Amino acid sequence: MEWGMKNRLSQLIQKDGRAMFLPIDHGYFQGPTSNLEEPGKTIEPIWPYADAIMLTRGVLRAAIDPAITKPIILRVSGGATMARRDELDNEGITTSVTEAIRLNASAVSMSVYVGSEREHQTLMSLGNLVNECEDYGIPTMAVTSVGTELGKRDARYLALASRIAAEIGARVVKTYYCEEGFEKVVRGCPVPIVIAGGPKADSEFEVFKWIYDALEKGAIGVNLGRNIWQHEHPVAMAKAVRAVIHENATPKEAQDVFDAVKSGKAD
Ligand code: 5RP
Repeated sequence: MEWGMKNRLSQLIQKDGRAMFLPIDHGYFQGPTSNLEEPGKTIEPIWPYADAIMLTRGVLRAAIDPAITKPIILRVSGGATMARRDELDNEGITTSVTEAIRLNASAVSMSVYVGSEREHQTLMSLGNLVNECEDYGIPTMAVTSVGTELGKRDARYLALASRIAAEIGARVVKTYYCEEGFEKVVRGCPVPIVIAGGPKADSEFEVFKWIYDALEKGAIGVNLGRNIWQHEHPVAMAKAVRAVIHENATPKEAQDVFDAVKSGKAD
């Protein structure tokens, strides 16, 4: 592996082999979604606890201080919106690799929709993006999204989508956690896996538990958005999630961190 690629990956994946990515890219198809109406304000108290921030160029330029010291994972795909839910897989590349370099991105990310009508289109986009990014030593993270016909949390589907993204050349794959068979998803994917959270969960303990279990089964960390910044106590969530990822905190210990920060007993 070239020095530049290694250097960028080491900005994202920490020395302990773990990673906590904070995505605030949801507006690229959801618009001003809840708690992300003003992304700069949302992220301000929580970015220090993340290892990298994932977002689009528009939000990066408009809302993020260029002096920020966190690595940036630039979302470069889009072209679909919530206004046409049946067309959500109809994505292309919206942001060039030149732009990613100009913005000093440490990685780029794009969605692939395995099992959907535009599966081929998005997988070919991934191949083209990887071809171009590899020339400049920029890692590509594949955001495996949910096909319409296969279950979101079905290990066979997650394993299929993750493996295919890795085969095409993604350096990191984002998938979802599933209780049954997640270790098979990890075993079948030759590159590091991070998990997303999806819509806000009923309890924070639930979130700590599935992150803990995913790490036990081989994930390297998270690309976790809504369960942090849509929570009533985002800083407490960010600190507790960080404790699970980088301090091997159990779900119970993470809950203690959360409760202490929430009640003001800890910073
Ligand atoms: C959708 C994404 C998100 O970055 C990803 O799904 C993680 O976010 P969350 O934890 O909120 O599901 O690619 O825009």
